[in-house]
Amino acid sequence: MTTEDRQPYGLVTPTLSRTASIQAHIERAIQELFASFPNPDRLSAEEQRAIIARYTAVLEGNFIYWMTAAYLSVTSGEANAIIRDNLLEEVRDNHPGMLRRFAVAARAIPTDRDAHAVSRHLHGVREFVGRLSGARLVIMMAFFEGFIQRFMPYLEELAKRQGSTETQYTDVHGVCDVAHTQELFHALEAELALMGVPPTAALLEGVGLLAALIQTIVHGGEGR
Ligand SMILES: [Fe+2]
Repeated sequence: MTTEDRQPYGLVTPTLSRTASIQAHIERAIQELFASFPNPDRLSAEEQRAIIARYTAVLEGNFIYWMTAAYLSVTSGEANAIIRDNLLEEVRDNHPGMLRRFAVAARAIPTDRDAHAVSRHLHGVREFVGRLSGARLVIMMAFFEGFIQRFMPYLEELAKRQGSTETQYTDVHGVCDVAHTQELFHALEAELALMGVPPTAALLEGVGLLAALIQTIVHGGEGR
């Protein structure tokens, strides 16, 4: 069943325009993040290592769990199928293992200190994820996929400076997350068609929490 099958014609335009405004918000949030990121030339070797380590600490054990939460919380068949495909690819292609190899090659395996630096904001995102709020979670994950895809050149540059030549993780995520982000917006359209169109601000809570976590990945947090 497609999105159009489920909704009266009169609802198509408002739902799509709501998705467009959410996409625009996510695009701005990603641009704001990148505008704040330091030029790798101005980072010490330890600061470069720590960014890779904190990224790994957040992504390796949480990405599939958060996508699983989105899978469990959506109600439309279309969103369910889209997120299932995303999860299948993550699990089948062992993306956590890919990221671990990337971190090992860059000599950036997360330490206790790296994990502690992101722990407060990571806790905030986990609390939000635990509420299993379908559309809000899909929006957060679309933001996450969009950010990850755009972050790959930066992450790969840091790893090269650490002496790494391992690029499978950054190669795969620089490409596949473009399609994943678009698919998640289709999933969101299907969810919004079922739930009506709540105010945009109410849907963006997860984006704010995840953006704060990403800031601590790049800039460090507690225990720096
Ligand atoms: Fe992945």
